[in-house]
Order: sequence, then C-alpha cells, then structure tokens
Amino acid sequence: MSKNYLGGKFWGVANPSEFIRGIQHSVNNLKNQVGIFTGDQLFTFNRNLSFMDDEAFVSSMEKNAVDEVERGIIWRSSVLLWGIRNGLRLEGDFVECGCYKGTSVRVVCDAIDFAKVDKQYFLYDMFEHNDSMPHHAMPEHSAQLYQDVTERFADMPNVVVTQGRIPDVLEHVAPEKIAFMHIDMNNAEAEVSALEVLFDRMVPGALLVLDDYGWAAYAEQKQAEDAWLATRGYRVLELPTGQGLVIK
Ligand SMILES: C[S@@+](CC[C@H](N)C(=O)[O-])C[C@H]1O[C@@H](n2cnc3c(N)ncnc32)[C@H](O)[C@@H]1O
Repeated sequence: MSKNYLGGKFWGVANPSEFIRGIQHSVNNLKNQVGIFTGDQLFTFNRNLSFMDDEAFVSSMEKNAVDEVERGIIWRSSVLLWGIRNGLRLEGDFVECGCYKGTSVRVVCDAIDFAKVDKQYFLYDMFEHNDSMPHHAMPEHSAQLYQDVTERFADMPNVVVTQGRIPDVLEHVAPEKIAFMHIDMNNAEAEVSALEVLFDRMVPGALLVLDDYGWAAYAEQKQAEDAWLATRGYRVLELPTGQGLVIK
C-alpha cells in the first residue's frame, strides 16, 4: 500500500515558505493523494515508494536519522541499503569514503543486523576541517568526531572506522575485495583518487554509489568520474535521487 513522505528539506531555494506553499498547492490539486514524496529536490506522486514498506529500513531510519537532513534523504538511504543487500551475496567487504557522522552506515547496518554478518564495513573520513584542507567544512567536524563515530559503532566490531585523508589512508587500511562502495566526499579530486585505489578491488556485480553525481553544484565530480570510468568501459546511471550508480 502506497504511503506518503512529506518532507520539507530542499536545497537552493530562495524563498522557502513560498516554495513549500507552492508544493502544498500542487499536492492539494492531485487527483489521488497517494505515493507522494517531497524533499531532497524530489516531488513525486502516484509512486509505490516501496522503501516505505520496508519495516527494517523504516525503523532503522526512525532510530538513527535525527535531523531534517538525515530524515529527508530517506530515498537516497534506501538506495544504499539496496546496494548493501546486493553485496551480501557477493565476496568482499563494504566501503564508505566520507562517512561524516556515520549516519547512513548506521541506518543500513541496523536494517540488516550487520554485527551478525561475516563481512567488514570500512568507513573513512578526516572528521575535522581547517582552512588548509580542500574539502568543505561541515557543522560537526571537530577533533572529537572520530571518537564519536567510533563509539557509535562500538556494538559492531566488524565496522572499521579510520581517520585520514583519502587516498593516503588507503595505503594503511583497505579491504582486498569490495562487495559495495559508497563514495560521498563532495570533492572531485578525492573521489577520483578513491576510485584509483579501490575500483579494481570491487568484485563483479558489486554496486558503486556516487552520492553527489547528479547534483548540478557538484558537476565537476560528475565530469571527472565520467571521464575516469569511461576509459574503463563503464557509464554511470544518474538516479532521480541525485546519486550515480555503477554496476561493476
Ligand atoms: C557529505 S559528508 C558525508 C556524509 C555521509 N556519507 C552520510 O551519508 O552521512 C562528506 C565527508 O567527506 C569527507 N571528506 C572529504 N574529502 C575527504 C578526503 N580526501 N578523505 C577523507 N574524507 C574526506 C569530509 O570530511 C566529510 O565529512
């Protein structure tokens, strides 16, 4: 049965109250008030929104996604869970390059009870920011964040949280085989450097999700990744969520 998700988080809006009023006006003028999703630059209707029927996923979102941004990216998070579930039947471990607070990973880990899975999940981030670093600052970057994320996964010993700059840190800690990879560093140079080291380690059938691929503000990433992947014979599928998807 189709449900609705009426979120209010959109980026790049000049007048949020007028914008939301416009969306509400459009919703009010639908013939059937079903399958409506608003937020994260999406407005859909008459869709099945199947992820809303996935009880393990929805309850994990309710438990772990605490603010408007984390809740509002529910459709994107469901894509990650789909990629992870696909990876469960493959050889290799899971990777997230750019984990920040670890929320996306915690959502998928709780949905599949990852502590009981015979795989490791490798998380990377610098966790801090200063003006000498090329990545952009995020509100919770701090000297404490690495410790906080490590503690967030204290009950999952198969989650390996590593602090450091990609690609340098990959020389020290990285899986040999990868069954799923999520790259989300908002930075073309860092993301291509991750592909240079890790893409060849992805096993056939593993999914690569590029979080920023379809976002106009990160077009530089898309161009760099398209070029890098094209030389290896791969094309990226731009999903309506803004993510890019590649099947190895
Ligand atoms: C948008 S956030 C990631 C959000 C996270 N994937 C989630 O879904 O909650 C991007 C992160 O990438 C990290 N980052 C950017 N460049 C990096 C690099 N070269 N090495 C490691 N982490 C990097 C930043 O520190 C930041 O925390």
